[in-house]
Amino acid sequence: MHDNDLSAIIEADRAHVWHHMFQHQLLESRDPRIIVEGKGMSVWDQNGKEFLDAVSGGVWTVNVGYGRERIANAVRDQLIKMNYFAGSAGSIPAAQFSEILTSKTPGLSRMYYCNSGSEANEKVFKMVRQISAQRYGGKKSKILYRERDYHGTTIATLSACGQKQRAQHYGPFVPDFVEVPHCLEYRKQWDVENYGERAAESIEEVILREGPDTVGALCLEPVTAGGGVIVPPKGYWEKVQEICTKYDILLHIDEVVCGMGRTGEWFGYQNYGIKPDFVTTAKGVASGYAAIAVMLTTDEVFGMFKDNADDPLNYFRDISTFGGCTAGPAAAIENVAIIEEEGLLDNTKAMGKRLQDGLAALMDKHPLIGDTRGVGLFCGAELVADRETKEPLSEKLVQAVLGECDKQGVIIGATMRSLPGFNNTLCFSPALISKEDDIDRILDAVDNSLTTVEKSL
Ligand SMILES: Cc1ncc(COP(=O)(O)O)c(C=O)c1O
Repeated sequence: MHDNDLSAIIEADRAHVWHHMFQHQLLESRDPRIIVEGKGMSVWDQNGKEFLDAVSGGVWTVNVGYGRERIANAVRDQLIKMNYFAGSAGSIPAAQFSEILTSKTPGLSRMYYCNSGSEANEKVFKMVRQISAQRYGGKKSKILYRERDYHGTTIATLSACGQKQRAQHYGPFVPDFVEVPHCLEYRKQWDVENYGERAAESIEEVILREGPDTVGALCLEPVTAGGGVIVPPKGYWEKVQEICTKYDILLHIDEVVCGMGRTGEWFGYQNYGIKPDFVTTAKGVASGYAAIAVMLTTDEVFGMFKDNADDPLNYFRDISTFGGCTAGPAAAIENVAIIEEEGLLDNTKAMGKRLQDGLAALMDKHPLIGDTRGVGLFCGAELVADRETKEPLSEKLVQAVLGECDKQGVIIGATMRSLPGFNNTLCFSPALISKEDDIDRILDAVDNSLTTVEKSL
């Protein structure tokens, strides 16, 4: 597809670009990968090699696929008319998109614009602190987060990080963030029948230990993403909601990954019938066509930040410079329209089932797969060295599986440098436009790669 010589680009990249999550010594013996073009489900690298992207831009972002001229045109038109003004004022696309998105989130009527998932989460953390200061005399300032969940890369969000390797070396951290146990039944911590309820009760135990009057919010991913695609077991969410109500704790759902259709519903939490006080979402909001993140909340929370205009510090004194960019909401409007017009939520459910069933079927053939899990087009396969003992497969061998898929032209993901000893889950999050052939190609690549790695053992 590409006949241009990109050697100058490769050298510029090698000389100056600091890649994300990347050990650069590798580039002393090989070229960096430059992704040159994308169309639909595929991307092409500098050598013209095509890859089927089973991770939507590497980090579950490009939900509607590559090369959407309609989004690009909407962004272009908007930028020519009005590209930017600070968020203390409104813009046409921001107002329009707020109406569209809040129509998908009954109970959450107010939206705050910013530009990354980490930033959106920090907005909630700041609001919880401000509510604590203004309503509770400094009590209820603690924020609970869950082991294996991730909420971002800043120091505050790393203070709420349940993935120890992500946070390692970056302390000291912000006080008043407290961890609660994960809910992955495959890695059981309690030998009980109703695991979901028991895992939720472990949150209550932490609340009682810390003192309910010290806890202001609970921050959870609806389905844990980078921590190993953890689908909470039956009964978990009902109990979590009950606990939050009982102790007057605000429920913050981090939908940075699960939001915008990834699970087959607009938001992951909508699979479970829960009522959050805050929702944050980012990656799929505009499918990566423009940087945009949003924080959604209730009338009730919003009311707490405007009920005393006599107090000069009563409102939310926060700004996000690029939250005022109009490209984000302009792209997001088209992104939602595409999801609706192309029936992508239904497609996600159907293709997600095909992917999940296919992964589960591979277990018959491949002893390396210990567990498969997922909701919609958000799936994981946990790899083990021994199915009986559940000893995790080494990160090196998990990466070898990725490497083999890559050789076959399929890009998949895996938990990486996140959970000491447990970076052993393959991750799949193809675009919501996936067709049966795409899913089958992903499954074939995984099948072949596991065969190759198993033979090497
Ligand atoms: C669940 C979750 N929350 C928050 C973030 C942070 O988002 P960002 O990288 O846009 O800051 C991520 C990023 O991977 C994520 O997976």
